[in-house]
Amino acid sequence: MKLLITGGAGFIGSAFVRMVVGQTDYHAVNLDKLTYAGNLENLSAVEGSERYRFVHGDICDAALVDSLLAEERPDAIVHFAAESHVDRSILSPEPVVRTNLNGTFTLLDAARRHSVPRFLHVSTDEVYGSLEAPAEAGEDYPLNPSSPYSASKAGSDLLARSYFVTFKLPVVITRASNNYGPYQFPEKLIPLMITNALDAQPLPVYGDGQQVRDWLYVDDHCRGILAALAKGREGEIYNIGGNRSLPNLDVVRQVLAATGRGESLITYVKDRPGHDRRYALSSEKLMRETGWEPVTNFEAGLSRTIEWYRANTAWVSRVRSGEYRAYYERNYGGRALAR
Ligand code: NAD
Ligand code: TYD
Repeated sequence: MKLLITGGAGFIGSAFVRMVVGQTDYHAVNLDKLTYAGNLENLSAVEGSERYRFVHGDICDAALVDSLLAEERPDAIVHFAAESHVDRSILSPEPVVRTNLNGTFTLLDAARRHSVPRFLHVSTDEVYGSLEAPAEAGEDYPLNPSSPYSASKAGSDLLARSYFVTFKLPVVITRASNNYGPYQFPEKLIPLMITNALDAQPLPVYGDGQQVRDWLYVDDHCRGILAALAKGREGEIYNIGGNRSLPNLDVVRQVLAATGRGESLITYVKDRPGHDRRYALSSEKLMRETGWEPVTNFEAGLSRTIEWYRANTAWVSRVRSGEYRAYYERNYGGRALAR
């Protein structure tokens, strides 16, 4: 089995590559543009493996994708590559639309021409938009995305589905909830709060901090993708959740307690425009059809994650230098006093 994995140098993609190369006998070809979020340090564990190849390139580059499929003839494409952050999609929507929509189109169309036997499109519960409690989104819940990021993911899901319906490309779509774990770029809630807490820096909480997210440990997500890849039915969508809903403020307080910092670091800042109040999803379909389930308890996963950031200060300082500082200033600079 040979997989073409896109975005394998990012947070979830690198966890997936490490899992595939370390725990299966699959071959992995990783196509990644190495944007600010792509980091080959995340893949040092697989670098020497003869079952792993890295290709530096853009999923929007049709000629490159075409020649790679002709050369490698993968049994499946597992498509992670995306601009993945809501705040950046608000500050700069153009790369989000380009990679998430045009890039997914480029891959789907090449996969169709090369008759790739399986195309797993990695998506998000954010496509369902904000849900009032106690509703949970099943896979047929209406799409109601709020941000340029979630709208681009919803659009890419629909394109992927159209390639199944129209061209019979064997597409499977997964939609996961909020991931956390080692190697996550510290722009998302949990790694940002951990790295700031470890440095005794303010923890910027948007609005009232009562927004609810479902938290999924990254390895549970990757096992869910492997289950959907092996057993998911063509043309179907599978939600992948962690079965652990928490308001942001509870998450932030747990980070503070686990890092030994006081709550005085919490700083309420101006809310994110279009901020979704609550995500909630049911993963019953994937569980029923494949036997997968999330196994990592949130407290255990959080403490493992905090230990990783504590132990990997060189990784943290490298990813937080340069571009990250400019982003941080752009996103948080005007927010602090404006609640
Ligand atoms: P990430 O931002 O950490 O990594 C994205 C990777 O894609 C990087 O390695 C980057 O270099 C690469 N990339 C970006 N544009 C590219 C392009 N044009 N061509 C080739 N490579 C490109 O993202 P992540 O958090 O690992 O998310 C991976 C996927 O999972 C995304 O599709 C995202 O929508 C989805 N997802 C993420 C979460 C989450 O909580 N992070 C939840 C559900 C779904
Ligand atoms: P994020 O990790 O960006 O994921 P998403 O918006 O895709 O769910 O944010 C998770 C939640 O945390 C979301 O409600 C926004 C909130 N948040 C903050 O309060 N402060 C922050 O600095 C960040 C990055 C997020």
